[in-house]
Amino acid sequence: MATDVAPVPGHGTPDAALPFPPEEYRRLVGPTDLDAFDNPTGAPVFAHLPPAAYASVLDFGCGCGRIARRMIQQEPRPARYLGLDRHAGMIEWCREHLSPRAPGFEFQHHDAFHERYNAAGAGSGVPFPVAERSVTLVVAWSVFTHLLEADAVHYVRETARVLADDGVALTTWFLFDKRGFPMMQAFQNALYINTVDPTNAVIFDVDWLREQVHAAGLVVTRVVPPAVRGFQWIVELQRAVPGRASQAFPDDVAPLGIVRAPLD
Ligand SMILES: C[S@@+](CC[C@H](N)C(=O)[O-])C[C@H]1O[C@@H](n2cnc3c(N)ncnc32)[C@H](O)[C@@H]1O
Repeated sequence: MATDVAPVPGHGTPDAALPFPPEEYRRLVGPTDLDAFDNPTGAPVFAHLPPAAYASVLDFGCGCGRIARRMIQQEPRPARYLGLDRHAGMIEWCREHLSPRAPGFEFQHHDAFHERYNAAGAGSGVPFPVAERSVTLVVAWSVFTHLLEADAVHYVRETARVLADDGVALTTWFLFDKRGFPMMQAFQNALYINTVDPTNAVIFDVDWLREQVHAAGLVVTRVVPPAVRGFQWIVELQRAVPGRASQAFPDDVAPLGIVRAPLD
């Protein structure tokens, strides 16, 4: 593992030392375009969040460091960043190429089972390796969109456990309204599009999501509907405290269109 690499210079300085992940890994997480991994202006990656949100970041399902790389270029950087992913190769790449250039940035293999990507994994229900109420920003970008229902429940609860009192969880979801599918039974809340690998893309009932969030002691503080109907919703979560109301989910009235299918 490389340890002798100089820290990244401030933004605005060309930074040939901060490599991009290889295309085989970029393809696995979605966008192969290098721009999706780059933050040349050094702007906050999530501009609407207060600076305090970046004190302690947990990036669940960090993949090959798309968000980490952009946060490393951010000015100022998060004080602490922990990236978790069940794909051991991508974590190794991030450890070797990103951690040495960014003090405070760590990556850990999350040993959740997946038939193709972590076949020796410990199973489901793996906890986040961080203390209660210790994280100011949980990021789970394009991750709940790939979890089976029981795993999604587990990680909503884990998010609630680790979030600091004023912490924010930034999550994305595919959502549908189960009321339009009366053949679905009470215990059936998710749609799966791929019979070989159900985690390819998972679409959850919006009422079910709201119930899970509230049951975990969280509220929905911000909802950004998709730009193309049926695509990812951004759903921000915070601890339920007096005076912090849960936001409603608007109908998905975005224009119909086609977005690249999620890759498995
Ligand atoms: C579509 S990629 C998104 C990666 C990254 N969040 C981004 O936006 O570039 C989903 C990532 O979540 C990871 N993942 C899915 N389920 C996971 C689990 N249960 N534990 C840890 N990582 C998981 C996958 O290995 C993959 O890297």
